Amino acid sequence: MAPPAAGGRIRVLPEELAIQIAAGEVIERPASVVKELLENALDAGARRVVIEIEDGGLRSIRVSDDGEGMGVADAALAFTRHATSKIRNAADLTRIATFGFRGEALPSIAAVAAVELVTRERGAASGVAVRTDAGAVVEVRAAGAPEGTTVTVRDLFAPVPARRKFLKSVATELGHVVELVTRESLAAPGVHFRLLHQGRELAAYPPVAGIAERARQILGRERVRDGRVLGEERLGIAVRGFLLSAQLSFASGRYLYTYVNGRAVRDRALTHAIVEGYSSLVPRGRWPGAIVLLEVPPGDVDVNVHPAKHEVRFRLAHVVHDSVVTAVRRALQSMGAPPPGDAGSVAEALQRYASRLDATRPLALVHPAPRVRGADAAVAATADGPVSQTAATVEGGSAERFGGSDVGAGRGFAQLRFVGQVFRGYIVCEGGDRLVLVDQHAAHERVAFERLRAEYQAGAIERQALLLPVAVDLDPGRAETVRDAQARLASLGFDVEPFGETTFLVRAVPAILGDDDPGLLLEDLADGLATHGSHLSAAESVEAVLGRIACHSVVRVGRALTADEIAALLAALDALTYGSNCPHGRPVSIEFTRGQIERMFGR
Ligand SMILES: Nc1ncnc2c1ncn2[C@@H]1O[C@H](COP(=O)(O)OP(=O)(O)OP(=O)(O)O)[C@@H](O)[C@H]1O
Ligand SMILES: [Mg+2]
Repeated sequence: MAPPAAGGRIRVLPEELAIQIAAGEVIERPASVVKELLENALDAGARRVVIEIEDGGLRSIRVSDDGEGMGVADAALAFTRHATSKIRNAADLTRIATFGFRGEALPSIAAVAAVELVTRERGAASGVAVRTDAGAVVEVRAAGAPEGTTVTVRDLFAPVPARRKFLKSVATELGHVVELVTRESLAAPGVHFRLLHQGRELAAYPPVAGIAERARQILGRERVRDGRVLGEERLGIAVRGFLLSAQLSFASGRYLYTYVNGRAVRDRALTHAIVEGYSSLVPRGRWPGAIVLLEVPPGDVDVNVHPAKHEVRFRLAHVVHDSVVTAVRRALQSMGAPPPGDAGSVAEALQRYASRLDATRPLALVHPAPRVRGADAAVAATADGPVSQTAATVEGGSAERFGGSDVGAGRGFAQLRFVGQVFRGYIVCEGGDRLVLVDQHAAHERVAFERLRAEYQAGAIERQALLLPVAVDLDPGRAETVRDAQARLASLGFDVEPFGETTFLVRAVPAILGDDDPGLLLEDLADGLATHGSHLSAAESVEAVLGRIACHSVVRVGRALTADEIAALLAALDALTYGSNCPHGRPVSIEFTRGQIERMFGR
């Protein structure tokens, strides 16, 4: 039997501790503070919001807006728990049209940091400043201020050391803030956002007319090219947004931005519906990129299910799911069909597209590198087997072994007749007396490698600045290697800067790489540098590294190519020199002669 109630073990916690515990659910890290302050600014009708942070937000976070501001009484009351101007009764809870509704954010922030709020109501003669310490308002005074509100949060989690210990590096926290600002500004194209870190501007998005322009501002022209605006409405559910081209795919779902009634949410059903909408267009294991804003009647969605409001619950989840799948499919159908079965003569297509040799570049997608295999892994050319390996595979000159074909000697691909693409990874061509299969991945990789090598030999690998620097965390061993190799990485087209012990900021990458996450490549390069460094000559080691970069730059098997892309790829193959140091032993093309095929059929 339990002891009698008198000496019970249950205690009511002191108010202050209870508030800190509750605050922990709302404010997890600097990015959560930025989120709450940004949403308050947007709720106040701001047209312009500036976010300034120091040390990833660990030292200070300041959000200034030009919204409606607050009067003296409201400014002081704003830090009281459950004090909100946004809802009044339970019925309001079923028709929430603002980001805020709980009256929890400011008191929660004040419970775990020192806060100063300066505000001036629109049209008011003067402003007011409120300062808090350990959760309590300690000062309210008149203050000169522009119309709008500025909230400054210092030394986050100083009162809760246990929590502070769980924060990650400055770079990681900064990354979360950048991601958050990206998410919020995608959904509010009419608002001007600026983000500064240590006084340096990381992002500036002036107001634009719509989602497509905002997507272009944030994600960049390249990524947004060939995208489609999404806009469908049925059964009271509107699906709006912007779909990135199905030709782009990403290693993770990080380019899927989803919103419900303007609120950024992570909803698996919604994500699933988008991916299903793209279905066969994106290779297995890869993710599409899309910005999807769902609007449903407020009564059909419950936003009050997660402390940070990241999740929602739909009353009619299947209807929502189907609406999204349908809307995405329809928009994508207008994006252009997959490559035609027969693009006619490659030479013809070439004439039209010769000027677009660079068209190989938009194909650049980063993916984990298959390990470099030795030349012995190449398909073995056996004297009597059906498959011959052309010279394109390993070394120059051996094409003659197979009857002096031009193909494979680095010439003649463009003269082939393009028959089709099979298994989304192989190009089938016919020319003279042979059937030629080209592995599009290997071909593309070879082209990329040769281009990098030419650029390197000419003195400069073309680099592309990343829209926002990407912080990459490495394990200590790799970090050491990368730190030592900084100069060499610079000569290879990277701008990589140490940022703390094991973290690096990547500001630029070789242009050939495109936009995917440089983290995997940097890890891979560190491994390469560590192993080659010991036993290869400087020149060999450069080639090995270029090979790895090329490998990360190319399209993987599993992507349908357009006729133009195929033409460009074959023409680029013709332009290759096939030096003896090719990075991979894998063949680029394999051919069957008519004789071989006829023998197979017993003719
Ligand atoms: N930037 C701002 N401009 C004008 N008023 C603001 C601003 N920030 C806060 N307020 C006022 O302070 C109140 C309290 O803000 P707080 O963020 O704590 O709660 P909320 O936004 O109402 O709800 P939630 O906890 O869901 O965010 C708001 O209801 C609003 O009236
Ligand atoms: Mg709020």
